[in-house]
Amino acid sequence: MYEDEFRCGLIYIRDNFEDIFLAFKRIESLGGSIFIVTDNNVKELHLNSFLTSISDVVTVKGMHVIKPGEESKNSDTVSEIYKAFSAAGVDRKTVAVALGGGVVGDICGFAASTFMRGIPYVQIPTTLMAMVDSSVGGKTGINFEGHKNLVGSFYQPKFVYINIGNLKTLPREQFLEGMAEVIKYGLIHDAELFGFLIANVDKISDDDIISYLIRRSVEIKDEIVSKDEKEIGVREILNFGHTFGHSIESLLKYKAPHGFCVGLGMTVALNLSIAKGYIGFDVFEKYIYLCKKLGIPSKISDLGFTNIDADDIYENMRYDKKVRNGKIRFVLLKSVEDAFVDELCEKDEVILSIDSIL
Ligand code: GLY
Repeated sequence: MYEDEFRCGLIYIRDNFEDIFLAFKRIESLGGSIFIVTDNNVKELHLNSFLTSISDVVTVKGMHVIKPGEESKNSDTVSEIYKAFSAAGVDRKTVAVALGGGVVGDICGFAASTFMRGIPYVQIPTTLMAMVDSSVGGKTGINFEGHKNLVGSFYQPKFVYINIGNLKTLPREQFLEGMAEVIKYGLIHDAELFGFLIANVDKISDDDIISYLIRRSVEIKDEIVSKDEKEIGVREILNFGHTFGHSIESLLKYKAPHGFCVGLGMTVALNLSIAKGYIGFDVFEKYIYLCKKLGIPSKISDLGFTNIDADDIYENMRYDKKVRNGKIRFVLLKSVEDAFVDELCEKDEVILSIDSIL
């Protein structure tokens, strides 16, 4: 196995685009033409260096540029992408390229998975959140009727190419959103990683530290996804903090960063794990220490929102994809690196845990 061959597919981790042409050459049988989906910000920052690196090996059939941000992750944007695919003559051998963050990756993947019943696509994540989470594992999707990722598919990219150099232009807030996901991996699966984050919190953006954190996060995600691609079992633990986080995010009408909502969701999940007697307060204290040192919010009011009701957050969770027979199921911790899905949470204890972040 080469270092780029992960269990759930080809994942290149580099610090530039120098050999991305080789990644395309490896899937040359697909015909060598691509269609790029990106957003306005990424187009300005990274499109040229990407195009320069691939110009000898692929033909660009067309490009669709979306408005940056979660508001674009809807069925209207998918329609626009279908129209752009049709106008450019995209066929089943054209590779759709998602060049951007989580929104671009999720929406391009969804359009690719449904256009002509599926065309190939690749992920080139440019944010930390997309590098460590959304580009890996083949989840695609859009928000629908106010609910996060309600419509989507499991559809694996032909490869993921992570250029860590792209992080140099990433705003601090978006960097921290990704760090929330990295902390998640430590909490659910790797006590050593969690300890490493605490020990290195003051130099988290150093090149060698961030490289290690990205590689380790991708390894953990790959290990879990390869056991349960379609999320009928262990993959559910990757949603630690997300049941609460997605509910908060949609109640705030996507005006708060996704990663910060997940961070708040992890605060609630840790509180609930303590309330149920699974973990001690020390885990929570370490998590809050990390959040405070890094600048990840641990209260909704830190995000500038005050009139949010715990009951509304609870009720909005009924749209979570882990709900079974009307029962909301939560990913909780038995200890650091031991996450599980708890089916036995009473509404009152959940509401109390939500109260702690208001
Ligand atoms: N972000 C959770 C998953 O990919 O399963």
